[in-house]
Amino acid sequence: MRKIVHLSDIHFGRVDRNVVERVIETINEIGPDIVVVSGDLTQRAKTSEFIEAKQFLDKLPKPQIVVPGNHDVPLYNVFDRFFRPLEKFRQYITEDLTPTFVDQEMAIVGVNTARSLVVKGGRVNRQQITHIQNIMCDVPQEALKVVVTHHPFDVPEHHDERDIVGRARLAIPMIAECGADVFLSGHLHVSNIASTAERYRLENGKAALVVQAGTATSIRGRGEANSFNLLEFAEPTLAIHRLACSDPANGFSIVETTTYRQSTDGWQRDV
Ligand SMILES: [Fe+2]
Ligand SMILES: [Fe+2]
Repeated sequence: MRKIVHLSDIHFGRVDRNVVERVIETINEIGPDIVVVSGDLTQRAKTSEFIEAKQFLDKLPKPQIVVPGNHDVPLYNVFDRFFRPLEKFRQYITEDLTPTFVDQEMAIVGVNTARSLVVKGGRVNRQQITHIQNIMCDVPQEALKVVVTHHPFDVPEHHDERDIVGRARLAIPMIAECGADVFLSGHLHVSNIASTAERYRLENGKAALVVQAGTATSIRGRGEANSFNLLEFAEPTLAIHRLACSDPANGFSIVETTTYRQSTDGWQRDV
């Protein structure tokens, strides 16, 4: 069985330090094959926040796939925002803006969706879509194929659809052709699982799961306790656990598990 820990929206600068310690403890106990962080490592893209984020990542298991979020781009320093938006992310976190992990059972690709021209929104571009296709179309069909972005490809019911990543309608069918299984993202500070079959019309390719992580450590939880996801994949089954922490004294525990089974049309929920 392969284990992927997916956490998001860490937001150093606005964290609960007790929760940060519980996250580190719990993830090390789980001992995942890989850790995915889907952006917003900082609150205001300050150097001190990136240093703390790097120290946090250093305490988590490797390998890691880390992508930036809109909060990792400077907001008030106009020069930095437009001329070197990801300089600190690249300096302190990683130079690699298309982090990739591929083996016989899993292919995971991250891309940056944060953009300088919009404050909150995000976008995926054609070059990034082609990059994802090149990797995913090349790995065996049975492998679990995962795309990581900060901005989501779907939002929960009644949520503002403007939060969906720009060019999603272009990207989803192209990536589906290469057999994508799961899209991991954050940004909303709300947990959710949806199927691409609900929002997108796919003529070729199977439906994928759009998995949203809440905020792992930020004090801005939008009404939800701090949480992160654990995905356990044993072909043809994928279990998605949500671990939450309502009181740092008690730590994180599994509060919800949803199990899916691979079929020719995509992922069907086990009932
Ligand atoms: Fe965030
Ligand atoms: Fe965000």
